[in-house]
Amino acid sequence: MGSKLTAPTISRRKRHLGADPLVMLTAYDAPSARMADEAGADLILVGDSVAMVVLGHDDTMSVTVGEMAHHTAAVARTRPRAMVVSDMPWMSYHVSVADTVTNAAALVRAGAGAVKLEGGAERVPMIEAIVSAQVPVMGHLGLTPQSMLAQGGYRVQGRTSGAALGLVADAKALAHAGCFAIVLEGMPAAVGQMITDALDVPTIGIGAGGACDGQVLVFHDVLGLQTGLLPRFVRRYAALHDCGVDALARFAADVRSGAFPRDDECYEMNPDEESALGLYGHQG
Ligand code: KIV
Repeated sequence: MGSKLTAPTISRRKRHLGADPLVMLTAYDAPSARMADEAGADLILVGDSVAMVVLGHDDTMSVTVGEMAHHTAAVARTRPRAMVVSDMPWMSYHVSVADTVTNAAALVRAGAGAVKLEGGAERVPMIEAIVSAQVPVMGHLGLTPQSMLAQGGYRVQGRTSGAALGLVADAKALAHAGCFAIVLEGMPAAVGQMITDALDVPTIGIGAGGACDGQVLVFHDVLGLQTGLLPRFVRRYAALHDCGVDALARFAADVRSGAFPRDDECYEMNPDEESALGLYGHQG
């Protein structure tokens, strides 16, 4: 599959220079990381979406640095070829520069090759401090789920020309601060294209159109492990929730009918030992 991907190699992956589009998938544990890596993902994002798709929270704001480190370590133990990027959770990079660097270090010690954080120019001091601690940073602009209270829900951003230009300015500020790549989420395709054209570092889109230098989707969405209404940008490639429920229901039916286990699914005893047991009769 080739050599391990790193932030410097990824930072040069611009499609207009002839690079293949970057593929990023989320993963949160060893099995999902192995699947994403075997499928050829360039980057595995241990996203704070873990809060919603694995831990059962209603939003991403409840997850902690400790929980992100726990899931990052499970992914990193699989030693994927893909680069492991770990999300900095809400409030782990908002209070002070010193706390920000300490929290980024916790994720790197858990096995992350880079951290990702949400927000625009207001995050520049935090990004510069993490970069100067030698940790690659990925930015995240547009619909930023950790801002759902401030943004009034999960709303597409950059729909007016003023807001779009604001996003372009934010993207330039993040790139200038040292981000090696930037996720663009929930914005018109034209804005995704403008930002991608304005930057020397790659953009990775999720609901930001086809001009981005790469695309990311959430593991559970791609595989159909999530039920309920999905955003327009999700394309499901499997229906594993339904497939899983069907398999589990067949197991339950087999247990109830006595069809599970069969003899060849049971351990045998040495026949002499078994007949010796008969000599003692059954107790109790
Ligand atoms: O946490 C996550 O899954 C993300 C992606 C949506 C980019 O940040």
